[in-house]
Amino acid sequence: MSKQYGYFDDQNKEYVLTTPKTPIKWANYVGTLEFGGIIDNTGGTLVCKQDPALNRITKYIAQQPQSDFKGSSLYVRRKTEQGYQLFSPFFTPCLTEPDEFECRIGLSYTRWRVVAEGLEIDVKVFVPKGSSTLLQDIKVTNVSQQSQQVDLAPVYEFTHFDALKQLVNADWVPQTMTLKAHPEATGHLVLEQYAFMKRDLAVNYMSCNLPVDSWEGDRRAFLGENEFGSWAKPLSLMEDSLSNSECDRGDNVGAMLIKLGELAPGQSQRVITQLGQVASLEDAADSIALYRDEKAVDQAFAELGEFWEDYLKVMQVETPDDAMNSMLNVHNPRQCHTTKNWSRYLSLYQLGYGARGIGFRDSSQDLIGVMAHMPEEAREFAERLLSVQLENGSAMHQYFPLTMEANEGDSREEPGPDYYGDDHLWIVLTVAQYLKETGNLEFLNKPITYYSKTLELADRQQASVYQHLLKAIDFTWNNVGQHGLPLLGFADWNDTVNLPSGAESLFVANLFGKALKELLDIAEALDDQANVELLNGYYQEMKQRVNQHAWDGEWWVRYFTEQGQPIGSHKNSHGSLYTNGQSWPVISGFAEGDRMLTGLNSVNHKLNTQYGIMLSGPGYNGFDPQLGGVSTYPPGAKENGGIFLHSNPWVMMAETIAGNGDRAFEYYNQINPAFHNDNLDVFQSEPYCYPQNILGKEHKQFGMGRNAWLSGTSSWTYVAGTQYILGIKPNLQGLEIDPCIPKAWPEYSVRRRYRGATYNIKVSNPNGVSKGVASITLNGETIDGQILPIMTEGEHQVEVVLG
Ligand code: GLC
Repeated sequence: MSKQYGYFDDQNKEYVLTTPKTPIKWANYVGTLEFGGIIDNTGGTLVCKQDPALNRITKYIAQQPQSDFKGSSLYVRRKTEQGYQLFSPFFTPCLTEPDEFECRIGLSYTRWRVVAEGLEIDVKVFVPKGSSTLLQDIKVTNVSQQSQQVDLAPVYEFTHFDALKQLVNADWVPQTMTLKAHPEATGHLVLEQYAFMKRDLAVNYMSCNLPVDSWEGDRRAFLGENEFGSWAKPLSLMEDSLSNSECDRGDNVGAMLIKLGELAPGQSQRVITQLGQVASLEDAADSIALYRDEKAVDQAFAELGEFWEDYLKVMQVETPDDAMNSMLNVHNPRQCHTTKNWSRYLSLYQLGYGARGIGFRDSSQDLIGVMAHMPEEAREFAERLLSVQLENGSAMHQYFPLTMEANEGDSREEPGPDYYGDDHLWIVLTVAQYLKETGNLEFLNKPITYYSKTLELADRQQASVYQHLLKAIDFTWNNVGQHGLPLLGFADWNDTVNLPSGAESLFVANLFGKALKELLDIAEALDDQANVELLNGYYQEMKQRVNQHAWDGEWWVRYFTEQGQPIGSHKNSHGSLYTNGQSWPVISGFAEGDRMLTGLNSVNHKLNTQYGIMLSGPGYNGFDPQLGGVSTYPPGAKENGGIFLHSNPWVMMAETIAGNGDRAFEYYNQINPAFHNDNLDVFQSEPYCYPQNILGKEHKQFGMGRNAWLSGTSSWTYVAGTQYILGIKPNLQGLEIDPCIPKAWPEYSVRRRYRGATYNIKVSNPNGVSKGVASITLNGETIDGQILPIMTEGEHQVEVVLG
C-alpha cells in the first residue's frame, strides 16, 4: 500500500494532512475572484484582486519546488544559548522536522497545528466574506516545561500587479516597486506597497494586531549579504531586530518581527496578521482596526462557516455509499464553487498570467454546477458571458474579468477559423438550467449587448437573452460542412484537435441537439409556436444527418476532415474511438435503440480503466500538424488517450439515459478522488477534488493525476450524481424525480431546497430495479407523474417507490 498523507474528517468537512511532504503541491482556495486565491500545503500564498493577470498581489512562482518559499511564510524564532533558532509551522522554507503536524484543508480556509521545539503553533488562514483582506490567525503556545522567549516573523513577497510583467522585465518592474512603512504611536505598523503607477489607485498593505518590534521592506535586507542569506535562514532574523528598511525600488517584501517575550509553560499568545488591497490607505483604516480585534476575527470565521452551511444545505444526500455521500455533500459542491470563481484562470497549473481568462465554454458549464446553490450569482455571471457573445451568434472564447476585454483564445495563433465550434451553444444549457432552477422566465427578456471589438459599450447592439440563445442556434445551423454537420471551427470541446478549415464536428452536432432540446422546452413554456416549429425542424434534420453519416458500425465517428475522411473510426489506426463521440449522441437524443447501447458498450470494452474512462484511443504517436495539439502529447497523456476526467460524467449520464444504473454508478465511483487516498504515490494529486487528467493505460505512469481543481469534471460529475443517478432534476415545471441507481440499493434519501421549499425525498427500491418510478406521494398524497408540484415554502415529505 502507498504511503499515507492524510485522511478525511467528514465531521469538520476537512481533509487532514498528517505530513507536510505531499507528493506534489496541493492547493486550497481562499476568498473569491473578488479577492482571494490559493494557499498551498507549504503555506505558499497566491492572492489577487479581481484578476490574477492584471491585479496580482503576492509573488508565487508555481514551478518552484515544494521546499522553496513561494509568496509567504511564517517564521517562529526562539532565543537559545546558541543564538536564534528558526522554524516554520508550514515546514517550508526552514524544513525543520516537526514533532507533530496537521494541516486541515477546510472550506475556504487552511489550518495548521504543528508542534516543534516545545511550541505549538496553530495558524488559520482565510479571507472574511466580502472583504479584501487575507487573515492569518496565529496562536503560539509554549508546550515545553521551560519558559521560552519567542518571536514571530510573518513575511509576504509582493509582485508587480501585472503578473506576467513581473517575469519578463527585470529593470522596469523593480524600478516601480515601492514599499513604505507607517508606524503608529501604539507601536502598531502598516506596511504599504504598490507599483508606482498604482500609487493613487490601488495599494497593498500588511498589518498586525500587536505592536511590531521592527520590520523589513526590501528582500535584499531581509535575506542579507546580497541575498546569499536564504529563505531557509534569512540573516536579518539572526539579529535582535530587523533594519526597518523601506524599499524605494527592488523586490518588495513585507516582513514584521513581533516579539512575544517570555512565554511561561502553558502560556499562549495570539497574533493576527492581515494582507489587503484598497484604493488608498485611508480607506483601509476601518478594516485594519476591525481585524486587529480578536472577536471580530472570530466572528468573521464563524460567518464563513455559516456561508458554507447555507451553501451546502441546498442539497444533502444519504445514499448507501459513504464515498458518494461525502463527495455530493461537501467536496464536489465545494469544487463547483471554486470553478465558478476561477474558471480555468488560476490554479497551480493554469497560472493566471493572461494567456487565459474567464473561459466562455468553461464557465458556462461551471455555472450549471452551482445553479442550485447560488442561482442569482450564476445568472449575473451568465449575463457577463452573454455580453461577450457576438452578434452573429458565436462567442468570444474568453475574457479578462477586470476589463471585460474578450479574445478568441488559442485560435488566434493558427491560420484558419478563429472561432470555436461549440462555445456559444453551452450558454443555452446554462440559461436553461437557471430557468429550471428558479422558474424566472422573465430573465429571457433582459436586454444584453453583443460583444464588439471596435464599438464602445454604449454603441453595441442589444438583444434579449432569448434572442441571444436563438442566435447561438442560428450560428451553428448556418455553419455546416459537406455532410450538413456543424463545422469544427478552430476546435470544439476538445481544444487540441485542430483540423484544417472545413472539418465537421460530431460533438458540436450533438451539443446542438442538446441545446435545441433545452430551447424547445423554453419556447414551449413561452408558447412561442413559431420557434417551437423552427427548432423542432432543426432537431429532426440534424438527427437525420448524424444518423445517416456518423455511424461507424460499432460506434460513432467523432469528426470528418475537410476531405470528408472520418476521425474516430475503425478505419483509423490511431484515435479510432472517442468517448465523447459515444456519450453525446445519447445525451442529445440522436442515438436510439441499438446504436445507443453499442456505442456505450464500445467505450466500456475499449476505453474503461480502473482509474476512469480514457478520452480516446489508441493514442497518436508522433506530432502531426494536420491534427494539431492532440499529437503534441505522448500516447496516454491529456487529450491524447489520457483519462481526461471531464468526459467521464457524460458517460455516466448517457448510461442512466440508457437505463444502466449499475454501470453509471461504477463509473461514478471509480473516479471518486477519495478512492485514491490509499494510492497517492501513484495518483499524487489532491484526493479531495477532481483533477482534470489522469495518465491513461498507454503511459508508463498510468494512474497519475494532474491539473487539480479547475475542471469541468466538477460541475458535470455533480450533475451526473445528483440529477442523473439520484435523479433529482429541476425542470421548468418543477422538481422531477427520475432516478437510475444500482439495483442493489434498497433506498436513499435527499433533502433538496428548491424554489423556496424544502423537499425531504425518500426513495425506496423494494424490487431491486435501476430505473422506473412506480409511485410518488407528496405529504401523504399520491401525485400524478414524476414532477413534484412547486410549493414555494415549508418542508415537504416525498416518498418515492421504484419498481
Ligand atoms: C481544458 C479546457 C476546456 C476543454 C478541455 C478539453 O479543460 O479548459 O475548455 O474543453 O480542456 O480540451
